[in-house]
Amino acid sequence: MKLTPQQLVEFERDGYLFFPGMFKPEEIQVLIDEVPQLYAQRRPENVREKGSDAVRTNFAAHLYSYPYAKLARHPRMIEPVSQVFGDELYMHQFKINGKMAFDGDVWQWHQDYGTWKNDDQMPEAKAMNVAIFLDEVNEFNGPLMFIPGSHKVGVIDAAHDTSTTSYPLWTIDQDTITKLVRRGGIVSPKGPAGSMIMFHSCLVHASTSNLSPWNRVSVYLSLCAVSNHIRRFKRPEYIAHRDFTPIRCLPDDCLLRHYEVPLPWKDGTPEEALKPAVV
Ligand code: SIN
Ligand code: MN
Repeated sequence: MKLTPQQLVEFERDGYLFFPGMFKPEEIQVLIDEVPQLYAQRRPENVREKGSDAVRTNFAAHLYSYPYAKLARHPRMIEPVSQVFGDELYMHQFKINGKMAFDGDVWQWHQDYGTWKNDDQMPEAKAMNVAIFLDEVNEFNGPLMFIPGSHKVGVIDAAHDTSTTSYPLWTIDQDTITKLVRRGGIVSPKGPAGSMIMFHSCLVHASTSNLSPWNRVSVYLSLCAVSNHIRRFKRPEYIAHRDFTPIRCLPDDCLLRHYEVPLPWKDGTPEEALKPAVV
């Protein structure tokens, strides 16, 4: 899938593109059906919410789940990002975020590139998030919030918050957020399951808790230009990948048909991938 010149202008201006209903219900169903057994697994890749058994985020399913291994090679997610960077891509991070009904906790205001630079020594902001909604996202179930245009500010000073939620995050202070919002406002793309968002790694974003009775499960591919691979392996490999092999796309119908894909962590995560620091 190629972006039009108009979409490229919009992406440059706002820092994100929204594609409602990009994936068909039957394609999304294949992914939804796999979530309960993934979330039920007791493995380090499942980070649970503080004080609850609900999964906040599941890492690296593309290495041990067949449908997600295919999604990680989907041309509708990979090609537009490759077009923007003019480079081949590798998978820096792969997450299935729960934001489960009643239990889904906040994600504080942050830029993803802040973490990738500070923790992983990724040289430039040449990495992109692509999200797909597995559930409908509405105003009640904790939609992602973006500050349009905030990606143009570059990397903003951030503090390492290790206490608000169960997952440590480099977060941005309230004064800075207030100033950015004065200029750019806040948007939250909402739409049916199967909708896709592409967003710049410097775009400031957050989401509130989910007090509704509806789950808000979303998948996030963080795709990095191969030439921009991370230089430090401080975080475990299941969070920040160290395999910089370019992604080869499968055909567009890959979620509905059988294709051979490797599942190297099917029988468990290798010992080295669990280690917090190698260098
Ligand atoms: C993220 O920023 O990585 C996740 C935010 C969310 O799922 O709401
Ligand atoms: Mn983020």
